[in-house]
Amino acid sequence: MTVKLSVNIDHIATIREARKIREPDPVAAALLAELAGCQGITAHLREDKRHIQDRDIRLLRGTVTTKLNLEMAPTNEMVQFAVNVQPDMVTLVPESRTELTTEGGLNVAAKVEELAKVIMTLKNNDIAVCLFIDPETEQVKSAKKVGADFVEFYTGKYATACDLGSLQEVDREIAAIQDMTVLARKYGLRVNAGHGLNYRNVGPIAAIEGIEEICIGHSIVGRAVLTGMDKAVKDMLQAIRES
Ligand code: PXP
Repeated sequence: MTVKLSVNIDHIATIREARKIREPDPVAAALLAELAGCQGITAHLREDKRHIQDRDIRLLRGTVTTKLNLEMAPTNEMVQFAVNVQPDMVTLVPESRTELTTEGGLNVAAKVEELAKVIMTLKNNDIAVCLFIDPETEQVKSAKKVGADFVEFYTGKYATACDLGSLQEVDREIAAIQDMTVLARKYGLRVNAGHGLNYRNVGPIAAIEGIEEICIGHSIVGRAVLTGMDKAVKDMLQAIRES
């Protein structure tokens, strides 16, 4: 089975927030991504609102026709927001205001009671719940214990190892993700993966049997900016010529 692609549109909002104006709109980017054939849209509503805003998620809920995955921290405020907006799925992630991007998975084993409560509230409101975790036995077992529907394995360590050319580390991470996918599915958990995946390193992760969906943001937005540059400049020259 070919793995599904959920496109994370956060960094369209990063470009918009650099100017605090209305463009480029991540909602428009999501529609284009869907027209191109992706099977889901992901957005991370951070507590510091550095890129995606509440308004984006509300509009995405009204426009995304594939699957809307809301990434968020497991706080009361965010849970209330999710219950109100009704994404198809919430992926719970750890969050720190000082990080540039998510730096690893949730420590589910250390927060069993707190997460079980959050997950029950979301599931009682018909929202599927995914936990972003490192590919480790203790975290998979804990994800099962707290009642998650999905886990998303953190592929950031794998991506860094690819960048550094550390072949042993690459093999170790692939094996860990493979083994933990088998374990998670044995427990009845569905499996996603993501973070740091790009055009060069996606293959071995997409090929892992049992992974349903991969979530990719930065590399797709980065490529869109570059592949769109030629047309964007030509369009501006045309606008100038017509003035
Ligand atoms: N999955 C999760 C849980 C994330 O937090 C992120 C980054 O927001 C991604 C996937 C996508 O990562 P990237 O932008 O590196 O493709």
